[in-house]
Amino acid sequence: MGYEAMLWFLLAHLLVQILKINAKVPAIIVFGDSSVDSGNNNEISTVLKSNFQPYGRDFIDSKPTGRFSNGRIPTDFISEAFRIKPTIPAYLDPTYNISDFSTGVCFASAGTGYDNATSDVLSVIPLWKEMEYYKEYQEKLRGFLGNEKANKVIGEALYLVSIGTNDFLENYYVLPRRSSEYNIEEYQNFLAGIAKDFITELHRLGARNLCLSGLPPMGCLPLERATNIFSGGDCVQEYNDVAKKFNEKLQGMIMKVNKELAGIRLVFSNPYDILLDIIQNPNKFGFEDIAKACCGTGFFEMGYMCSKINPFTCSDANKYVFWDSFHPTEKTNWIIADHVVRTSLATFL
Ligand SMILES: *[C@@H]1O[C@H](CO)[C@@H](O)[C@H](O)[C@H]1NC(C)=O
Ligand SMILES: *[C@@H]1O[C@H](CO)[C@@H](O)[C@H](O)[C@H]1NC(C)=O
Repeated sequence: MGYEAMLWFLLAHLLVQILKINAKVPAIIVFGDSSVDSGNNNEISTVLKSNFQPYGRDFIDSKPTGRFSNGRIPTDFISEAFRIKPTIPAYLDPTYNISDFSTGVCFASAGTGYDNATSDVLSVIPLWKEMEYYKEYQEKLRGFLGNEKANKVIGEALYLVSIGTNDFLENYYVLPRRSSEYNIEEYQNFLAGIAKDFITELHRLGARNLCLSGLPPMGCLPLERATNIFSGGDCVQEYNDVAKKFNEKLQGMIMKVNKELAGIRLVFSNPYDILLDIIQNPNKFGFEDIAKACCGTGFFEMGYMCSKINPFTCSDANKYVFWDSFHPTEKTNWIIADHVVRTSLATFL
């Protein structure tokens, strides 16, 4: 090796070492719904589960873990991008051990929402209960690491919150209660208020680095298209408009919170534009089917209806944007995670 080449080699090595030393995020801590649940629903009594084949068929060891996809979910890819672990364990998994705190932890529950009434629909874990579990986790962490080290982990961890779709699609637009109490604008404000309280409570408990995710173009989920028969199975424009509007409200709230809460770094991540781009330009990303999911007929199936005995499931999920009628394939999850890491989360890398 020439002198110059040697110098570059050493410098590059040094840089890698510095980056490693400065690896700021010791763990990723997740709250939310099925977009990020890595298996908590396996341990509760609900019909909304996915710990059976063909879920997970492209996961490590083809294992169905309770993730609502054929493989990994966005938070797994984010954890990997932060050079932590390639998957984030579910807090309620009986094998979860606090001594593995550096693998991160997930409190999310499929089917839940900001609104308590939403988690009641499918008897899943309400958001306030996710917070209770997090407090319990903090106690265990303090027990394991001691106060000082535990506080350091809590303060330097990255918190990801992804929730809200079910409040509209499983609750407001389906059940009469909330839609008779609030018009859609008021309901959005109600949810944004809960989001703000949740972030404020996390901050009070020591969290400093947080990312709140907005809603996807939820009118384009296969299940919603399937019910949009009068418009030939197009995306439901009203639901997409609501998602966009709600995302704006969240962004406004986030700007305020960053001014109000000392030391907080709260960013917004937006799956809306990237997912709509995929749906409008599937060829660009190597997809062939955008409207119909891989599992079953692709129109209605999720949870138990998306099972191994359903004969219609596709063979190559990578050609599909959606895995079941409500959830993206692993490939879509990867594209979204990559986008979020390069935009919203770059500041924490
Ligand atoms: C957690 O792991 C530690 C060592 O890694 C072990 O000593 C302990 O028994 C485990 N706790 C549980 C509840 O499995
Ligand atoms: C949700 O329920 C919890 C527990 O009952 C309660 O403390 C909380 O105030 C409720 N949240 C809202 C927004 O009603």
